[in-house]
Order: sequence, then C-alpha cells, then structure tokens
Amino acid sequence: MKTLVLYQSKTGNTEKYANDIAKRVNADIFPLKRFKAKKLSEYDTIVFGGWVRAGKIQGIDEFLSNWDLMKEKNVIVFSVGMSFADKDTRAQMIDTNVLYDYHMRYYQFRGSFDFNKLGPIEKFMMKKAVGQIANNPELNANQAALAGILENPIEFYDQEKVDRVVTVIETLALEKKS
Ligand SMILES: Cc1cc2nc3c(=O)[nH]c(=O)nc-3n(C[C@H](O)[C@H](O)[C@H](O)COP(=O)(O)O)c2cc1C
Repeated sequence: MKTLVLYQSKTGNTEKYANDIAKRVNADIFPLKRFKAKKLSEYDTIVFGGWVRAGKIQGIDEFLSNWDLMKEKNVIVFSVGMSFADKDTRAQMIDTNVLYDYHMRYYQFRGSFDFNKLGPIEKFMMKKAVGQIANNPELNANQAALAGILENPIEFYDQEKVDRVVTVIETLALEKKS
C-alpha cells in the first residue's frame, strides 16, 4: 500500500508531525504547495496535516478541492493548534472546516505556540482574540488556558496521537493485503 503525507506548516510543528508519521509508515511526503494533484492517483492512503489559524485548518480548502481524486481512498486529516483536543473544540473544528461533508478520519493534535515569535499582524490578531476570550465571564477550561497564552508559551508534542494515526495507517495496509 502506498501512503502520501501532505502538510502545511508555518512554524514547523505540523511539518514535524507530518515527517514523523511519514517516516514510521514509509510514506512519500510533500508540502501541500509543492504537490501536483494529478499524482494523487498513485496512492491508497492520503494524509493531510494543516496548522490552525483562527479555527481554520490552513490548506484544507485547497486539499479538499481535489476530493474527486481521493474519494475512493483512505483519507486522514489532522490539524495542529494550541487548543485542547476536547469534544467541543473537535465539533467546532469539524463545523468551521466543513469536514462533515467528507468521508475521512480526523484527528486534532496540539502544537507549540510562542507569542514572542509572531510577526506584528499575528501579534495584533492574537491579542484581539485573547482579549475577547478574557472578557467572557463563563470561561471553559480550554478558554481559560488560552487566556494566559500571551505570557506563557506552550510546547506540546502529541506522541499518543502520532502513534494512533500510525496504527490506523498500518491497519489500513493490512486490510488491503487480506
Ligand atoms: C495568528 C494565529 C492564530 C491562531 N489561531 C489558532 C486557533 O484558532 N486555534 C488553535 O488551536 N491554534 C491557533 N493558533 C496556534 C497555532 O495553530 C499553533 O501555534 C501551531 O502549532 C502552528 O503550527 P505550525 O508550527 O505547523 O505552523 C494560532 C496561531 C497564530 C499565529
């Protein structure tokens, strides 16, 4: 079985996850922007990982625009953001990114975030978003954690999720053989 891993990453977290998964299942790997869609036909399982910006998985629209070429394949999407991967956030991500329209497996990974490393526009965006969260009197645990994000960098590597995705890909390969 041939597996392809595509990714879109800004500060390297998604790229690292994509690389780690690709290495373990012996997949071909490309940044989404450097991959020609017509080559999708060569693969049985296609994985796409994108970083999350304001709830949107970066690159997902471009990736899904080729759905017709993938609809009979195994498709796995993972997002990398600073949010907790809880039930509510997952539901929100599926909704915002219209994933419910596609037959795929979706996983939410946590990445790293350091406010001090952002450019001026992104700093402004983050301050605005965090300000809105902090003004909400009824914060859930996820929002409460985000409220402190400007002062406290997050560094997270979701080994368990990587292992899970690798197991899924290996299981799909076994199913194809039998
Ligand atoms: C402008 C901006 C907006 C972001 N919005 C979200 C968000 O809505 N949800 C989330 O979980 N993470 C959000 N993040 C955090 C990034 O997704 C996180 O830092 C991720 O690890 C970046 O992945 P990369 O290193 O592959 O670029 C945001 C980061 C930036 C810079």
